[in-house]
Amino acid sequence: MEAARVLPVWAGKEKIVQRIRENDTVILVGETGSGKTTQVPQFLLQEGILPSEGQHMIGITQPRRVAATSLARRVAAELGCADPATLKEKQDNDNLPEWVGYSVRFDDRTSRHTRIKFLTDGMLIREILGPSPRKRSKTSENYSKDSMEYPLKRYAVLIIDEAHERSLRTDMVLGLAKRIQRDRRGRIEAGDASVYPLKIVVMSATIDAERFAQFFSHGQPVPILYVTGRQHGVRVYHTESNCQDWTDAAVRTVMQIHVSKPLGDILVFATGQEEIEAMAQSLKLYAAQLDAWGEEQGHESVPAMLIRPLYAALGPSASAAVFAPTPENTRKVVLATNIAETSITIPGVRYVVDSGLVKEKVFSPQTHVETLQVLPVSQSSSLQRAGRAGREGPGECYRLYTREAFQELQPQPTSEIHRTELSGAVLQLYAMGIDPFTFDWMEPPATSLLHEAVLQLAELGAVDSRKEAVQLTPLGHRLAALPVMPSYARLLLAAAERGPEVASQARDLVSILSADRGLFVEVSDPEKREAAENARELFVDSSGDHVTMLNALRAYLLAQQHAFQSHSTPAAARQELKMWCQTHAIHERTVRNVLAIRKQLSRICVQHGVECADHVVRHATSASSGGEDGDSDSEDDALIVTRNAACLSKDAENSYTELLQCLGMGRLSHVALRQSDGSFRRIAGGQSFKLHPTCVLHPSRHGARGVSHDTVQAIVFEELVMTSQTFARTVSKLEPVWLQSLLAAA
Ligand code: CDP
Ligand code: MG
Repeated sequence: MEAARVLPVWAGKEKIVQRIRENDTVILVGETGSGKTTQVPQFLLQEGILPSEGQHMIGITQPRRVAATSLARRVAAELGCADPATLKEKQDNDNLPEWVGYSVRFDDRTSRHTRIKFLTDGMLIREILGPSPRKRSKTSENYSKDSMEYPLKRYAVLIIDEAHERSLRTDMVLGLAKRIQRDRRGRIEAGDASVYPLKIVVMSATIDAERFAQFFSHGQPVPILYVTGRQHGVRVYHTESNCQDWTDAAVRTVMQIHVSKPLGDILVFATGQEEIEAMAQSLKLYAAQLDAWGEEQGHESVPAMLIRPLYAALGPSASAAVFAPTPENTRKVVLATNIAETSITIPGVRYVVDSGLVKEKVFSPQTHVETLQVLPVSQSSSLQRAGRAGREGPGECYRLYTREAFQELQPQPTSEIHRTELSGAVLQLYAMGIDPFTFDWMEPPATSLLHEAVLQLAELGAVDSRKEAVQLTPLGHRLAALPVMPSYARLLLAAAERGPEVASQARDLVSILSADRGLFVEVSDPEKREAAENARELFVDSSGDHVTMLNALRAYLLAQQHAFQSHSTPAAARQELKMWCQTHAIHERTVRNVLAIRKQLSRICVQHGVECADHVVRHATSASSGGEDGDSDSEDDALIVTRNAACLSKDAENSYTELLQCLGMGRLSHVALRQSDGSFRRIAGGQSFKLHPTCVLHPSRHGARGVSHDTVQAIVFEELVMTSQTFARTVSKLEPVWLQSLLAAA
């Protein structure tokens, strides 16, 4: 690749490969965009670092799934390999080599030919946990023994990328990889010739390299290599005063740059998909009027504007669009979350607009609940963001905050481990036989956070904390093996006990809850919102949001069945479905994402002995020629229809009682009671909160399908969101009589 040849990392190729050959661990630090992620695995492959026998691989972990998939596809393209996104099991891929693959939750695109594997930290941890108990017993007697003794067997090199981000999973991977490396080294030194060493490469964008080197040093020093990049000057502008509405300010800044500055793409750092989509809408409106405006102002020609969102929930093809070269006389505007801060480099960027904000999960030990909050970034993030403008030439950065506000930012971000809920991580460690209190954390979390996690797990029935040493229960082992949040795993298993019908409802619900975003389009315009709510009225269930979402999913399946039966061409059927989604203000992409997860989860349920009621029928059809946007996982999911689609009849409503009972199982921390003032407070205490206006049970939705706020005494909620106030989102009603059994079980 032409572009790759001038990447700064190329100058260091020989040295990098040599150091990795000579050492167990190497730390590689380099400016974002210098080519670490895309080039280093290729160097190692080309230089033959993999043992010739066995099916060894180079693994590269990423904190985010969009980064894992898009970088894998990029590397595959550079190597002339098959596109991993189109890689299906047992399918020939035009005879292109299948050396590059990726594995993210619910989407594994690897084969036995894979030599370079991009995966999320979370997936690597799953691999260390080993296959599910049933699968294990099926293969061979000592499979589990094998995989326990020799985890990550296929990995000869493990590259832990974006280590500076210090996500909780990355921190776990650092500790686990160190442990595995030492175990292997120990076995080799004891004369075991069947074991290969594990080489670890830690890659990071900022200079905290010493800490990583110290963490991995084992008697001998760990070399740190620096890739010197060429960073051009970036002129930074601040606002005079703090802006009230940053999205509005961002849109205006983009338009100002667009009409007054030389060509060059703009990168906007925003908080999340909702804000990004809202900004994209306004920008599109402005962009449509550009010509007329230009004429009015006497400009010869105002360049066209291409708006490209970039956030986690986008499918692979939509996120690939941000990398496409910008056409002539056009300016690309990328609206991104902080994913563009270091993990993904977008070529052509010359202007950065920085909101100075980031959306993060924050766990508060006081309230025992994790909330999604919009917070100021750190100074180092702010500098990173500005740096994105100076990669290819001098650039400009427009901060939507004052110089004083910058001075007041904290210098470094807080590692996720100090501000997140740890029960999932703690459960996984126990399942590996590791005590989280003595685990070799890169930066140990506060003991109180670990205790809190153990409490949550005890509530779920996953651990027995009454004994002197905390012990995982058999239920805990089963929960750990399911690749969903422990509370969702608990819901699945509780539902399974109630029979296949409830199990299939739970599986579908967990698929919906595990998707990257909500099923329903959130409409900000009040008029349009009313229209959307009316169209969705059909799905509303008086119990609340969970069953309402389930109804919507099943209605979609019904619509899908209808579309494919009544249209002769798949394209026409897809068009009908698209219209159906628009009418009901449902995110079609999300539904397809949910269906892909559901397909995986069905398989997982089978592996774990969870029997689900529906019979999956696959239309024999030639329709699998790809969704209209080429999203790879869409085609055959679009053809799955279930008998349960017929459930959307009124009399089916009663049958959800058991599902709703399971929803609260082991989740007392997410159960709340109504207060006399109409707000809610968790059974376990803490601050009171209100229902989010989008909730089916919200007082403003009175009258919708028999929903009555007054009868809601107890609720179970999925998340609390903190804006100016605290709101619960995704809420369903619990019958007070059920609470007794929940409390008794706890
Ligand atoms: O990891 P690091 O930040 O050092 O760089 P990288 O991700 O390997 O990116 C190297 C170069 O590849 C950058 O100039 C990116 O713009 C480019 N790239 C691209 O054009 N398309 C992609 N899908 C990924 C990277
Ligand atoms: Mg990188």
